Amino acid sequence: MGDSNIEKLQEIVDRSRRLVFFGGAGVSTESGIPDFRSKDGLYNQKYKFPPEYMLSHSCFVDRTEDFYEFYRDKILAYEAKPNAAHLFLAELEKTGRLSAVVTQNIDGLHQAAGSKRVFELHGSVHRNYCTRCGKFFDLAAVKAQTGVPHCPCGGVIKPDVVLYGEGLDDDTVTGAIKAIAEADAMIIAGTSLTVYPAAGLIRYFRGRDLVVINLGDAGDVPGALFIHQKVGETLGQIKIK
Ligand code: APR
Repeated sequence: MGDSNIEKLQEIVDRSRRLVFFGGAGVSTESGIPDFRSKDGLYNQKYKFPPEYMLSHSCFVDRTEDFYEFYRDKILAYEAKPNAAHLFLAELEKTGRLSAVVTQNIDGLHQAAGSKRVFELHGSVHRNYCTRCGKFFDLAAVKAQTGVPHCPCGGVIKPDVVLYGEGLDDDTVTGAIKAIAEADAMIIAGTSLTVYPAAGLIRYFRGRDLVVINLGDAGDVPGALFIHQKVGETLGQIKIK
């Protein structure tokens, strides 16, 4: 681990008062959940249809059984626990110096670690609704059924996850943009920054310190301190003073 990078990151965390964390699937890989585009990621495995179709609105509507087979096997199959990155952010939030976590992840691990202000741009597997009557179901209720889960009213239950072809929740996007625009520091981590509109939100950042902690390529983020290390290992070395 480059000590100078850790020292620079420590200084940034020490002087920030309104830090925002912007994360992706790479934040959960140290919890055992594969990401999408790394070599061993979800999108590089073989399926009946392309994974982007398997997680699309049209697949949910037209091939609901196939959707849920993929979703249960590849999205819900992990009994993951928060890792050092999630725990660090929850602790930093308690000091009042982290204003928000903005995540593309749907696994709920930030909240499981204790984070309160989390903008889930792509929704969450922990929220599920009947498509007929709107009744809420938690993750356990979906896991308690096999195949396509149904509501007692007979309606199909749908996860509150932004599928390809669906829009993001307006209030979530507005809240995330406000937090990013008001931040004095932003840490972007564990994301290839390839999926829009989520990846486009980072352009609202106007603050002083910008850090990218990413194993792979995250494209060009002008003015950022790049740390090509594991985000859990890295944040696990940062002290909260
Ligand atoms: N520490 C740091 N970086 C990591 C780690 C780690 N422990 N593990 C993986 N990475 C990096 C990978 O190198 C990769 O660049 O995280 C990035 C993950 O990128 P993607 O797999 O593309 O995930 P993400 O950017 O979150 O994808 C965005 O795509 O399919 C949609 O909705 C889905 O939210 C997802 C969106």
